[in-house]
Amino acid sequence: MAEKIPFILGIESSCDDTSAAVLHGDRLLSNIIASQAVHEKFGGVVPELASRAHQQNIIPVVNQAIVEAGITKDQLGAVCFTRGPGLLGSLLVGISFAKSLAIGLDIPIIEADHMQSHILAHFIQPKGEVKPVPRFPFLCLTVSGGHTQIVLVRDHFDMTVLGKTIDDAAGEAFDKVAKIMGLGYPGGPVVDRLAREGNTMAFKFARPRIDGLDYSFSGLKTSFLYFVRDQLKVNPQFMEEHKTDLCASMQRTIVETLLVKLVKAAKETGIREVAVAGGVSANSALRTALLETAKKYRWNMYIPEFAFTTDNAAMIAISGYFKYLKGEFASQDATPYARQHF
Ligand code: KG4
Ligand code: ZN
Repeated sequence: MAEKIPFILGIESSCDDTSAAVLHGDRLLSNIIASQAVHEKFGGVVPELASRAHQQNIIPVVNQAIVEAGITKDQLGAVCFTRGPGLLGSLLVGISFAKSLAIGLDIPIIEADHMQSHILAHFIQPKGEVKPVPRFPFLCLTVSGGHTQIVLVRDHFDMTVLGKTIDDAAGEAFDKVAKIMGLGYPGGPVVDRLAREGNTMAFKFARPRIDGLDYSFSGLKTSFLYFVRDQLKVNPQFMEEHKTDLCASMQRTIVETLLVKLVKAAKETGIREVAVAGGVSANSALRTALLETAKKYRWNMYIPEFAFTTDNAAMIAISGYFKYLKGEFASQDATPYARQHF
């Protein structure tokens, strides 16, 4: 007899989003995300405030995920939580809650890696449709606020980082440029929006030159800062007058930088199954450039739905489902980790 398909609850609390999702096997039933507005006025995530907000949000968010899934908590087969990487205090809230809930319901717990989960989000099947998923082995450009890397994915949990940033992440570059321009936090979405009105060729910023498949974004941010500072000395209105062009030009530089190495990785490995994941994969210019590049090099390109680009618990739940199938459960001793493991 076929085994019963489990309902998996995923819990994500690694940074500044409290999220809970329910999957039935690989099928999405609900995905609730409470973003924390408290950090906006600080221009970045304040860890202590993030932990506190997770503590306030976690019960209502989990409850809503279960209700929206149309099930009761007694039907859950396992609870999967993000163990890391992330902010330790934030992770502790999700982990402790998952452990207690699992004890209460007498079901197993599963741990998920946040970065692997961003990639595994490609395997979530949306309600009412069957979408194509990447075939192994594939390359995944993982671009978020904390990471920028090209990952070789041989299997769900067999991943190797081929190249990564040696300093800032691509998301950080977006956020820092936005901060310099006084556009608020997180900056990526605002830069994306303003860039649509601007000229991508208005200003030239030198693309970082780093060996191999690694990235570097800190020089770019510094050259942007110096450029704007010099221009403001001549024309105090410079930023206001050129906001959209600055965003468009900077965005083009970041996108081109990301693509050069991805193309190199595809050529070196001979792999034409290519995916993108993480918060920055919501960027419209990156999505367009990826599709164009895929056409040029005949890649099969996998771009996530917007809901699965930034942090969400559906990606944690899908990790949980694949581990559930392998019988890989976590122990009540599990503690969070801050840095990437693989
Ligand atoms: O994956 P994510 O939600 O959190 C981390 O794990 O870091 O990524 C957040 C990052 C932020 O740096 C944010 O500015 C960036 O993703 N981001 C974007 C866009 N939407 C989010 N960057 C560029 N364009 C966007 N549309
Ligand atoms: Zn993330």
